[in-house]
Amino acid sequence: GIGIGPLRKETGAVTYDPGFMNTANTTSEITYIDGDEGILRYRGYPIEQLAEHSTYLEVAYLLIHGELPTRGQLDNFSAQVERRTLLDERFRRLFDGYPRDAHPMAVLQAGVSALSTFYQDSLDPFDEEQVRLSSVRLLAKMPTMAAYAHRIAQGHALLYPDNRLSLIENFLRLTFGFPVEEYIADPAVVRAMEQLLILHADHEQNCSTSAVRLVGSAQANLFTSISAGIGALSGPAHGGANAAVMEMLNLIRDEGIDPRDYMEKVKNKEDGIRLMGFGHRVYKNYDPRARIVKSIADTVLERLGVNDERLELAMKLEEIALNDDYFVERKLYPNVDFYTGIIYKAMGFPTQMFTVLFAIGRLPGWIAQWQEMIHDPDTKIGRPRQIYTGHPERPYQAMEERT
Ligand code: ACO
Repeated sequence: GIGIGPLRKETGAVTYDPGFMNTANTTSEITYIDGDEGILRYRGYPIEQLAEHSTYLEVAYLLIHGELPTRGQLDNFSAQVERRTLLDERFRRLFDGYPRDAHPMAVLQAGVSALSTFYQDSLDPFDEEQVRLSSVRLLAKMPTMAAYAHRIAQGHALLYPDNRLSLIENFLRLTFGFPVEEYIADPAVVRAMEQLLILHADHEQNCSTSAVRLVGSAQANLFTSISAGIGALSGPAHGGANAAVMEMLNLIRDEGIDPRDYMEKVKNKEDGIRLMGFGHRVYKNYDPRARIVKSIADTVLERLGVNDERLELAMKLEEIALNDDYFVERKLYPNVDFYTGIIYKAMGFPTQMFTVLFAIGRLPGWIAQWQEMIHDPDTKIGRPRQIYTGHPERPYQAMEERT
């Protein structure tokens, strides 16, 4: 890349780059992406190897601390997280107040934001011990909140975490367990969940991560910064895409639309529709995460004995796209979201929860990026410039003179 250093006010020069297509806002040591080659690495480790061998908390440690943990470090880190999954009883009651039809992303964002009111002993961005504590609290409590957001929508009672379980087993039990019966998550489902969360754990300066960094650059606390990230992730052009893929597949299935006809509509940009789960700002090749997700889909559906025609439909759409000039020329390939929804459905999650799962996955990346920003001596408050295109100066008009 070209480095020209900070522009000085006196030069009067401002770069205009909508969507930051060519503007780097930071240097970073966390995640490497080569969009043309379809490469993704966290702290130098290929995503394929991490997804195969690691757990979610191991990858969280790697992203946040920069190195893979030793056995002792991981045990200590996991214990720190796993014993903090409970929410303060008054905090828990917040969840009784949300309407049943509230979107779980909105509930999660409100919950994370409220952490600043309950955990005031870990708000100082420049106190390393407080940041460590707030990071552990987020990793521990966000899955609990996500499960509660789900249970509100179902009209089910909220369960207490069982801290003898691992973080992910606990999350699945809090989500799907009933008070009257012991719920034990299928180990294959636990493993698939760990892998999906790992695949979502960081993706350098995407929209939500940039939001976290920007809010943090004003020295807002970590909880508040992460809640901004959750807000950004809720949009259908970002994290909401996994739910949008499922809605698209439902539409094609339920209305009996021929996949070829649907693809023609996409190509003709009829009603502005896009093939959801396809295309990426950075990947101009097959998203390496999508390949792994596809194989997880095969494993989970087979294990759970689910025969979902939407998987075949999705594969058909992909096959058409890979052989069609429109998609080939524009370098549009499946992104991480194209197949995730089918797995989440098979596991029992309603569509509304898909983006919440993405948020749990992305949390370690948000924390790592926020910490990197706080410690970077080059960090300044994020404050983009603009090119003003409004009226030149004009005199105030009295009410009677306005038309
Ligand atoms: N379906 C059909 N056409 C598409 C698609 C798509 N999914 N994505 C891009 N295109 C076309 C555009 O119409 C445009 O064509 P044109 O030049 O003829 O107008 C061309 O490809 C370039 O598109 P841009 O919008 O300029 O590409 P950009 O990099 O800004 O967009 C984005 C990336 C937002 C991800 C886009 O591909 C998209 O909307 N995809 C569907 C939504 C989605 O899956 N989002 C998830 C992103 S990944 C994530 O957040 C985890």
